[in-house]
Amino acid sequence: MKILNLYAGIGGNRKLWGTEHEVTAIEFDAVTAEIYSNYFPNDNVIVTDAHEFLLDNYKEFDFIWSSPPCPTHSDIRRCGVHSGQYNALYPEMGLYQEIILLQNFALKRTKWVIENVMPYYDPLIQATKKLHRHLYWSNFTIGNYEVDKKERTHNKITGNSTVYGFNVSKTKIKNKRKALRNMVDPKLGKFILNCATGIREKQIINQVDIFDVLEKL
Ligand SMILES: C[S@@+](CC[C@H](N)C(=O)[O-])C[C@H]1O[C@@H](n2cnc3c(N)ncnc32)[C@H](O)[C@@H]1O
Repeated sequence: MKILNLYAGIGGNRKLWGTEHEVTAIEFDAVTAEIYSNYFPNDNVIVTDAHEFLLDNYKEFDFIWSSPPCPTHSDIRRCGVHSGQYNALYPEMGLYQEIILLQNFALKRTKWVIENVMPYYDPLIQATKKLHRHLYWSNFTIGNYEVDKKERTHNKITGNSTVYGFNVSKTKIKNKRKALRNMVDPKLGKFILNCATGIREKQIINQVDIFDVLEKL
């Protein structure tokens, strides 16, 4: 399959997709893109704006995954504004622009999924699936997924941690901890690709507990 991996980060969601697919990854931070490239040397990694790339290229792919930035939608923002830690920001409407684009214009053969955090407001477009405090908008059915709360504690991650086999401690990435915490669990990334392609596997994901952070605010 031709796969488009938007807002690729260092590649958490991509890790278990294997080598049989032709993957194009879009990431606008050059250092992050280089780390992704080192982990996935066969992927075509492009340093550019994912939002614009999607608009120009959505017809070219069989499967599209998009992880638009979540900070302006996250409850962390809302709590941070109330505690005086952050300034209020307009929620980034790019998330909804991408959903509307793909809901209305994606080719029939293209399977797509957009993931984000559960927002602090009622989502403007109803999601297809909620999985452990994240929402997924997709044009295929995402099955149920069991969450293993024991394997990983999100707030214990430091810049030197190895998370899902990724270690960025020796890289020049600006915020190492954030890059690691941003990752989608690879097993969940694989599970969702399998849902798109109709492959069924029993999977368990690790808990990505963003609310651990909230409790500290
Ligand atoms: C939530 S992380 C992605 C995590 C990734 N899906 C994973 O599982 O590892 C979002 C990434 O999008 C990148 N990014 C933010 N805005 C972008 C844009 N407009 N175009 C391309 N990349 C962008 C950030 O640098 C960050 O690496």
